[in-house]
Amino acid sequence: MLNKIMKKSIWAGVLLIAGGLLWACGDEKSSSGTGEPSATPGAEFDATYKALFTTHCTGCHSAQDPFNTATFTSVRANRQKIITRIESTDSSKVMPQSPTTQWTNTDKARVLQYLKTSTDFN
Ligand code: HEC
Repeated sequence: MLNKIMKKSIWAGVLLIAGGLLWACGDEKSSSGTGEPSATPGAEFDATYKALFTTHCTGCHSAQDPFNTATFTSVRANRQKIITRIESTDSSKVMPQSPTTQWTNTDKARVLQYLKTSTDFN
C-alpha cells in the first residue's frame, strides 16, 4: 500500500520534471518569435485578475476559509463553481454577494472570459 503511494509520487515527480522541461522549451520557442505564446499557469491571474478577485471576493473568501479566491491554485480548483456563482440569476447565490463588493458588468464579463478561456487553465 505504502509502496504504491510512493511509486505514485515518484511518477508525479517525473511528470512534473517532464512538464517543466516541455514548458521551458515552449518558452524558448516563443521568445524567438516562432511558436505560440507561452502559457505559464497563473501568469494572467497574477498579472491582471488577482486584483479583481481581491477587490470583489477576497474580503469574504480568503486564506483562512476553505474556499479562497486569493490564490491561483484555489481559483483553478474551484473554477467551475466560481463560474456558476458569478453567472447565477438567483440573488441568494450570485457572487459577489455583498452590494458593497458589486462589480461593473465589464469587470464581470472580463473575469468570466478569463475563467472560461485563459491559457492559465491549459
Ligand atoms: C460579502 C461576502 C461575499 C463576497 C464579497 C463574495 N462571496 Fe462568495 N460566498 C459568500 C458566502 C457567505 C458563501 C456561502 C454561502 C453560499 O453558498 O451562498 C459564498 C459562497 C461562494 C461560492 C460557493 C462555494 C462552495 O463551496 O460551494 C463560490 C464559488 C463563491 N462564493 C465565489 C465568490 C466569488 C468568485 C466572489 C467574487 C466575485 C465572491 N464569492 C464574493 C460570501 C461572499
